[in-house]
Amino acid sequence: SNPSLLILPGDGIGPEVMAQVRRIITWYGDKRGLAFDVSEDLVGGAAYDKHGVPLADETMAKAQEADAVLLGAVGGPAYDDLDFSVKPERGLLRLRKEMDLFSNLRPAQCFDALADFSSLKKDIVAGLDIMIVRELTSGVYFGEPRGIFEEGNERVGINTQRYTESEIERAARSAFELAMRRGKKVCSMEKANVMESGILWREVATRVGKEYPEVELSHMYADNGAMQLVRAPKQFDVILTDNLFGDILSDCAAMLTGSLGMLPSASLGAPMANGRPKALYEPVHGSAPDITGQGKANPIACILSFAMALRYSFDQGSEADRLETAVEQVLADGVRTADLLGEEGVTPVSTSEMGDAILAALDAS
Ligand code: NAI
Ligand code: MG
Repeated sequence: SNPSLLILPGDGIGPEVMAQVRRIITWYGDKRGLAFDVSEDLVGGAAYDKHGVPLADETMAKAQEADAVLLGAVGGPAYDDLDFSVKPERGLLRLRKEMDLFSNLRPAQCFDALADFSSLKKDIVAGLDIMIVRELTSGVYFGEPRGIFEEGNERVGINTQRYTESEIERAARSAFELAMRRGKKVCSMEKANVMESGILWREVATRVGKEYPEVELSHMYADNGAMQLVRAPKQFDVILTDNLFGDILSDCAAMLTGSLGMLPSASLGAPMANGRPKALYEPVHGSAPDITGQGKANPIACILSFAMALRYSFDQGSEADRLETAVEQVLADGVRTADLLGEEGVTPVSTSEMGDAILAALDAS
């Protein structure tokens, strides 16, 4: 049977960008004989409107069964005043938690045609292709004790950075596996100089690294890592880091490449019975209420998220390359959605026209 794909378009521009991905999925079925069993369901505000919860139990069950989940975006002003327990982002958090998606992959890739968009000088970022692997389910965002407590005559806010060896090990393993398919370099970032969890992190990363003799492992303090990312980002291939540092470093890396409308992500968990990892793919951007319904959304982040699904869930690396090359071609041809405008005299294309252009480039591939 065909591999299964659960599509959760969500809110705001989510359905708009996902419509373009649907066209590309259809293209793969028609033109490359790569058929998927696609089903679609609700998440976020859209699910709240129908079910009173941001992710229905039936949808959660479908996500657990699917070979991959592709999500658009959740949230929007209509839901800002909802109770915390039913806020749209709780739907996304529930997916990540119950699927136990511990490894968050955030590529930062700079398409030559967009190098002028970087916050940095063109020569520092042109051709950049790095991958940040952020541990996503543990660390200081989850560790106990946590809370605001009375202490003497004042209050104290407490969070606990806590990592078990097995949590570090599985994140590290996913970074080394990735490096094997890329540039065979891993740079592990922590603060072993001042944090016990950092000492353990470095020790475990080193141990796991011994299983991958072809991969060159280096270690860096995360603060230096932040500097190096901005100074000379091309020195990196895969960066392995924890939840907190990864949150910050991945946002920093995102700005090396320009628009939010270009950035895909993947969150991977343990292998399922069929050997595929549990997986959720989504653009980094949110629901963009300021441009919703105007045909202005850039679908590329969502399209590149599907390319990641081809590569990491469906073992279709060369088809993922094909899709990424089509995107690169279209950008090199000067096709731009409004968020990518910089040059004078360029008329932006709509969301669906960007889809048209990418499909045409796929046809020509
Ligand atoms: P946002 O990412 O939705 O938008 C930030 C800015 O970037 C806006 O000006 C928007 O128009 C632009 N933008 C984002 N994606 C774009 C695209 N594909 N094409 C063109 N322009 C794009 O972040 P914001 O405004 O902070 O949040 C809006 C809503 O989205 C909130 O409800 C927030 O909670 C939610 N959100 C959801 C996320 C998710 O589903 N993973 C992540 C971030 C925010
Ligand atoms: Mg962040």
